[in-house]
Amino acid sequence: MSSSELKHRFPESQSPNTYDDSLSSNLMAIRATCSSANPINYILREQRLHCMLLGIVIATIFFLLFPQSSSHDHQIVTTLTKPMKIMPRMLDQQIVHYPSQIHHRVGRIPLGLKRKGLRIVVTGGAGFVGSHLVDRLIARGDSVIVIDNFFTGRKENLMHQFGNPRFELIRHDVVEPILLEVDQIYHLACPASPVHYKFNPIKTIISFLSLSPSSLTNVAGTLNMLGLAKRVGARFLLTSTSEVYGDPLQHPQKETYWGNVNPIGVRSCYDEGKRVAETLSMDYHRGAGIEVALDNKLHVRIARIFNTYGPRMCIDDGRVVSNFVAQALRKEPLTVYGDGKQTRSFQYVSDLVEGLMRLMEGDHVGPFNLGNPGEFTMLELAKVVQETIDPNAKIEFRPNTEDDPHKRKPDISRAKELLGWEPTVSLRKGLPLMVQDFRQRIFGEQKDTSFVE
Ligand SMILES: NC(=O)c1ccc[n+]([C@@H]2O[C@H](COP(=O)([O-])OP(=O)(O)OC[C@H]3O[C@@H](n4cnc5c(N)ncnc54)[C@H](O)[C@@H]3O)[C@@H](O)[C@H]2O)c1
Repeated sequence: MSSSELKHRFPESQSPNTYDDSLSSNLMAIRATCSSANPINYILREQRLHCMLLGIVIATIFFLLFPQSSSHDHQIVTTLTKPMKIMPRMLDQQIVHYPSQIHHRVGRIPLGLKRKGLRIVVTGGAGFVGSHLVDRLIARGDSVIVIDNFFTGRKENLMHQFGNPRFELIRHDVVEPILLEVDQIYHLACPASPVHYKFNPIKTIISFLSLSPSSLTNVAGTLNMLGLAKRVGARFLLTSTSEVYGDPLQHPQKETYWGNVNPIGVRSCYDEGKRVAETLSMDYHRGAGIEVALDNKLHVRIARIFNTYGPRMCIDDGRVVSNFVAQALRKEPLTVYGDGKQTRSFQYVSDLVEGLMRLMEGDHVGPFNLGNPGEFTMLELAKVVQETIDPNAKIEFRPNTEDDPHKRKPDISRAKELLGWEPTVSLRKGLPLMVQDFRQRIFGEQKDTSFVE
């Protein structure tokens, strides 16, 4: 070994021998301290106790100030009573708000063990209901892919999500197949207002059924989405409608009621389209004649949605709430069809979105009525609109439209019991939020998209 190497290893004033001597004398001193002294004495000496106490105080302050590692104030729910069916990315932790389940606030979760967001497709996500659903899913921490052909939907409904890395928008018609790797599919794509679904009735049905160019069997819309769900093992939720009850002979309507639908009327493209979509979904759920993975079933959920209103509805789409609000704002008479004594139930959109998400996350296939059981005649609704917007608004009567149902009111006992869900926003509370949005869109007033729901 050269002298330069030795110099490098030992301080200049120390020879190798003196270094060994000092090391061994230090070791002996430490051994003497440890073996002879009492451990309490050891802690009390040289400020050790002070340092320990100081460390404990600092750690306590830190954990009080930062109880959770996540910036999102999410609650992680562990289902203790009924474990959910395993979904590819759902594993054992769900982020939902179920009053019936037990909530555990978990403290710091080591990086890499945090709940993974789901990847979710929302067809029709640029529409009225879809865009609100997208907002809730993204706020929950999931990644959302919207599929929409913009027939009635608008990019404006989603523009506030552009640039969010967990959001994607695909212009695509659901009658064409598409392949995406996802955990859940909310299937909303379908024109929902009479003005739009009557515009191209054949297309309305096609959104649910059509002839596949390859096999010439009934395939498309709903079938495409069911096929996608099956292929990738995703859970599938169909947004059906109270229109499946037609002009109901039972009141209020329970899910067990089979309905009273005119199969050849002008509304049939919508009503029958949705009824067949339900049939297909149930056939897929039962796994009839379909090769499937895992437990031989596709996890399907069916929601029967009753009249829903809120910000981002299409203006002038022929639906009664949007009609009345737009007419009152423009100082036009409110058009009431028939004698105005027909009844409807009006649900605010945030209540619906909550119901859809609970249905998707829950254990029950359905169908579930999702609607507000508060029942209003058209004349009563017109009165609420007058009170909210313009007490002097006039009412104009017109002949009723074909096959207009006389009564509509959901029985929501099933959703209450099995989903722990019921609407919380009354018409008088929800309507002003919609009016604020319509006023901005009709008169171009300054935009405020923060709908307080
Ligand atoms: N809003 C209600 O009161 C109500 C009541 C019952 C059922 N529903 C159901 O809820 C769903 C959403 O309704 P909404 O009120 O948001 O309607 P909407 O018209 O605002 O939204 C429907 C969306 O689907 C898109 N779409 C239509 N056909 C498509 C196709 N072939 N491919 C891709 N995208 C397509 C439209 O562009 C639009 O963005 C619909 O399935 C509707 O039948 C709604």
